[in-house]
Amino acid sequence: MLSLSNKRVLLGITGGIAAYKCAELTRLLIKAGAEVRVAMTRSACEFITPLTLQALSGNRVHLDLLDPEAEAAMGHIELARWADLVLIAPATANSIARIAHGEADDILTTLVLATPAPIAVAPAMNQGMWADAQTQSNIAALQQRGYTLIGPDSGEQACGDVGLGRMSQPSDIVAACAQLFDTGFLAGRHVAITGGPTREAIDPVRYISNHSSGKMAYALAEEAAAAGARVTLISGPVSLSTPERVQRINVVSAQQMLEATLTAAEEADVFIGVAAVADYRPLEVAAEKIKKNDDEMSLTLVKNPDIIWEVSRLEKRPELVVGFAAETENVVANGQQKLASKKLDLLFANEATKTFNSDDVAITVIDANGTTALSAANKHVVARQMLQLIAARLS
Ligand code: PMT
Repeated sequence: MLSLSNKRVLLGITGGIAAYKCAELTRLLIKAGAEVRVAMTRSACEFITPLTLQALSGNRVHLDLLDPEAEAAMGHIELARWADLVLIAPATANSIARIAHGEADDILTTLVLATPAPIAVAPAMNQGMWADAQTQSNIAALQQRGYTLIGPDSGEQACGDVGLGRMSQPSDIVAACAQLFDTGFLAGRHVAITGGPTREAIDPVRYISNHSSGKMAYALAEEAAAAGARVTLISGPVSLSTPERVQRINVVSAQQMLEATLTAAEEADVFIGVAAVADYRPLEVAAEKIKKNDDEMSLTLVKNPDIIWEVSRLEKRPELVVGFAAETENVVANGQQKLASKKLDLLFANEATKTFNSDDVAITVIDANGTTALSAANKHVVARQMLQLIAARLS
């Protein structure tokens, strides 16, 4: 089940009595970690309402091929490209025949032709229709094209017949869909990451901050999502776009980062503190722009909360709390000191001046057992190595 984590499933519903089971199917797909969008034929709407599926999937249901509203948001070609899997359930004899013959006159058949994603079909029909030579030839044509056939099951049918043709149970369909994907090494895990700098306001136009670009944190977030994790990225102000399948929470100050982090960390398996959090903030933030009347001015700074330490001592602590240390001298010794004082499970130490805003990074991995070096490479390459080290330490 866990291999549907982060996967995008486009559920195509056609008009058969088994369509009512799509409420449960949608719920189970989401429970298994998938994001679900639904497209329905007009006859499917006779058996289950689009509103039910909209409520369960959390997304607008697609009904018409030419829908100005949908085209403005997610039109059928975009939807076809969005999917990691197109699942047609229930697939009636008529819809199977139309797909087998390459028709494209409604939203569902068009999506099937347009998508580069794998397609799975869960047939549902009367046992006589299923056994019919034409249906069997249509099914064989779909299988030859690489479609995955899920079911049908045998049993009592809505029409009173007994035999092969019932749609498979939603739980069996979800299990069959999960088998279509390789399980990523972080599938089913929730990773929360802080990244970028924080800004501490002095007055409405000035702030204290640092040179963090967010590149390291965003590389980790993207690679963690690619490895199947659910990722929450709590980001200070950076000019990077959000990686796909990553939930980004924007913050500005250390105090805001702390609040967002504590909420995310409570339900995370792994917390990675990559952010370069400003250690101090002005005691007072001037309401108006400060005038430069004097040759000298002084600011009183107060210590910001140590976010990773607060995560480390949570009652519902993530299984792994992983820190970074950006140092200009004594990289390993300072890293070891931070690992111990912040009660971290693992720490990645790097040279601050070489790492800030660079595309590459060299890391010393520090834990209770000692240190290991990861040679300088692109941040994405190193991020994958870091995540593998993290995954190996998870129970
Ligand atoms: O963003 P880039 O340009 O890609 O640069 C990457 C990076 C240099 C920012 C990154 O690789 C890095 O080293 N991040 C940690 C920077 C840092 O502030 O280190 P620190 O030694 O001050 O803090 C140690 C740890 O405590 C870090 O995990 C930090 O996130 C955390 N911390 C620090 C202070 C604080 N108030 N709260 C914290 O959570």
